[in-house]
Amino acid sequence: MSGKALVRATVVAVTSASIPGQHGGRGRDAIGDLTSALIAAIGTDHVLTSADVRAGFETDWTGRYRGSSDIVVRPASTAEVSAVLTACLEHGAQVIAQAGNTGLVGGSVPRAERDHDERPVVIVSMRRLDHLGAVDTAAMQVTAGAGATLARWRDHARSAGLDTPVDFAARDVATVGGAVATNAGGSRVLRFGTMRQQVVGIEAVTADGSVIGSLSGLPKETAGLHWPSLLAGSEGTLAVITAARLRLVPLFRATITALVALDSLPAAVDLVGVLRRTVPSLDAAEIIFPAAMEVVSAHLGRAAPVTAPDGGVYLMLDCADHIDPSDSLAAALGPAAGVVDAAVTTDGAQRDRLIEFRDRITEAIGAASTAVGVPTFKLDVAVPLDALDDLLDVAQGAADTDGCRLVPFGHLAEGNLHLNHIGARSPDKIAETVLHAVASLGGTISAEHGIGVAKAAWLHLIRAPADLAAQATIRRALDPTRTLNPGVLDATGTP
Ligand code: MLT
Ligand code: ZN
Repeated sequence: MSGKALVRATVVAVTSASIPGQHGGRGRDAIGDLTSALIAAIGTDHVLTSADVRAGFETDWTGRYRGSSDIVVRPASTAEVSAVLTACLEHGAQVIAQAGNTGLVGGSVPRAERDHDERPVVIVSMRRLDHLGAVDTAAMQVTAGAGATLARWRDHARSAGLDTPVDFAARDVATVGGAVATNAGGSRVLRFGTMRQQVVGIEAVTADGSVIGSLSGLPKETAGLHWPSLLAGSEGTLAVITAARLRLVPLFRATITALVALDSLPAAVDLVGVLRRTVPSLDAAEIIFPAAMEVVSAHLGRAAPVTAPDGGVYLMLDCADHIDPSDSLAAALGPAAGVVDAAVTTDGAQRDRLIEFRDRITEAIGAASTAVGVPTFKLDVAVPLDALDDLLDVAQGAADTDGCRLVPFGHLAEGNLHLNHIGARSPDKIAETVLHAVASLGGTISAEHGIGVAKAAWLHLIRAPADLAAQATIRRALDPTRTLNPGVLDATGTP
């Protein structure tokens, strides 16, 4: 081979390693070839190309994040996911995994701006991978497909006398795969930890179609890299999660819920500290600020049973145990400073009605946003508990400057606030102000929703350059062709 031929061969090799099979970008022929390959991989019925059908997958739950795709595929097994990714790689397509599409940071829908090189975009819907294995009551574990909803996972565990350690309001639609990919949290984190801590085994498919991980669920194993640790929170950028082996927890049948009105945020923080130290059955401590209570009450068409004074807050407390936790909760609440009023119930139907004041806040904010014609703007952040007041001052100032309505609520034990904005005119300006404040207060710009595309530009505030570079190296190693969820978790702006 001549020297000239060798040089040319090297150039071609570098280009094709960047985006293999990119013959023709998004032209009609290219999409047609890709469609045929996907049909060969999983059959005609689950390769969706009609614009109307695709539209249902292209916008996120808030309506704020949207983009266009070329094809939606609905594989039903890990082997089919592998075949889909292999076809996408061969045809130079980008892949966005989606299941419940309840994510709030634009990570499970196509990007608003197409990649400059105009690669085809394929949404891989994981909803059909919704199998649930037999519950192992001795190991307290179960295997769940990525597309199983949290509600089905929970019902399945309960039918075997156990419960799930993670729960949140979107449980009927949100899925196990999405919850692992975003390291979701919810109301039980103070007792059992986030989704990452529940994953004892994982199975996933990398961009080249390889299946990695194990679902054996051994709680102890020191044998190299731990895939659950690496993939939980990676937001679909390193591999597509197909199934997880998940921890279960005891099912506590004695439950009590209290809606407590307090005169200040510091009083609520102190109370949660007391409860965590003295009431081991504490299962949730959700904070609701008056603006959020106002929105949800209007949405439900009924007033909360207790009222917080000006400057006050509400706490929704859950305790769950094998024996009635009422006495220990009452003993802690009785002497607590700053408690103005409390509605407490152990009755199932009454609890359900009380819990609606927490569980339906997101829905209520969504409806209020629809009414003003602007998608909700959400910032999910966490700061040390003693910095919450300062953060709220900054957030309120930013909302006042914008002229929008700030509606905060969240998970108090983790200092995790959901700062919702109804009618925000300049969301980027609000984010700039609030996220800088979060970082300088020692907090995180995402506590449980993920970075997605919504916060990628601010990731540098909490991650050092060396840290970001190391993460980019890992990403390139697993996905050298930039196939998986481009733009997500990307602080550089280069997918
Ligand atoms: C919640 O806590 O309800 C969820 O994180 C959803 C939200 O923030 O709207
Ligand atoms: Zn939350």
